[in-house]
Amino acid sequence: MKQDFKKISSQVVDWYLKDGRHNLPWRKKVTPYRIWISEIMLQQTQVKTVIPYFNAFIKKYPTLQKLSLATEDEILASWSGLGFYRRAKNIFAAKEIIKKNHDNKFPSQFDSIIELPGIGRSTAGALMSLAFLVPQPILDGNVKRVISRLIRKNIAALKEKDLWELSTKLVNSEDCFSYTQGIMDLGATVCTKANPTCNACPLNESCLSAFEVPQQVNIKKTKNKKIILMNFALVQTKKSLLLRKNDTESIWSSLWIPFENSKMQSYANKLELTRNEKFRHELTHRSLDLEVNIYFSSKEFKLDTNQKYEWIKKDRIEDYGMPKPITKLIQQL
Ligand code: ADE
Repeated sequence: MKQDFKKISSQVVDWYLKDGRHNLPWRKKVTPYRIWISEIMLQQTQVKTVIPYFNAFIKKYPTLQKLSLATEDEILASWSGLGFYRRAKNIFAAKEIIKKNHDNKFPSQFDSIIELPGIGRSTAGALMSLAFLVPQPILDGNVKRVISRLIRKNIAALKEKDLWELSTKLVNSEDCFSYTQGIMDLGATVCTKANPTCNACPLNESCLSAFEVPQQVNIKKTKNKKIILMNFALVQTKKSLLLRKNDTESIWSSLWIPFENSKMQSYANKLELTRNEKFRHELTHRSLDLEVNIYFSSKEFKLDTNQKYEWIKKDRIEDYGMPKPITKLIQQL
């Protein structure tokens, strides 16, 4: 069967206009800034998790001008719990570049956009198509799945270059906004990884996998997740919590976390052990086995260390970037 990519592309547009998720907050009041923040959040996080973070971020920083005044720490605080914190650091670095080189306005040229930290070819394509209405292909996980099924090839058997070529053929020059949002929605809601609903798909007449979607052969062997053991000492006074800024490049870089248990042993005479918590926290690529000693101290004290630390007032915790398991633990104190 010869496939008419132009027709397929306009079927995606028609379907989006009728059945797309028009209520997603970044699809209303479209600005390059809002599209940028949403695309970065959506790079590694699902739509339903992103929505409240996006709304809170935009409430705090409604415009690029407002964001331009933020510190990296403040941006990390808004990212607390969302994971993949490198994205927040990239947003900080990108807005500094935009301030310096682009007059504090989000650049509108593909070549300038793709130079910003955290933006690769697909995110740059999404920004061009969604924010500037200049048709450019995108290629995220969902789109790869839709187009590989369309031609009935296994994703793993296709080269990145072939996938980009296909994605480029499908780009819609009449309504690139609806096409781009539509192909993403199709992948997320109809052409899903497991149990795609081909009867609801606008492409079921031209799709070579329709109604008989082949199992994807996973060439990459699913590796066992690496388990990391972590031993923390969470020290609190009545009003404050002792946390340090993690200055290593490992996970949770630049976030505020408790000191290691071993580090606190030299202060044992100031500490009263009140609880011991053991729990596992799952990240995408690792499992963390956390053991946390929770200590009470009658007053704040100075530590001998070169690390940056603070006794953070409990009612100011939200101003600090923290990983999810630590936030959870603090909420349960
Ligand atoms: N995933 C990546 N970008 C998206 C968008 N704009 N809408 C929904 N899901 C997405």
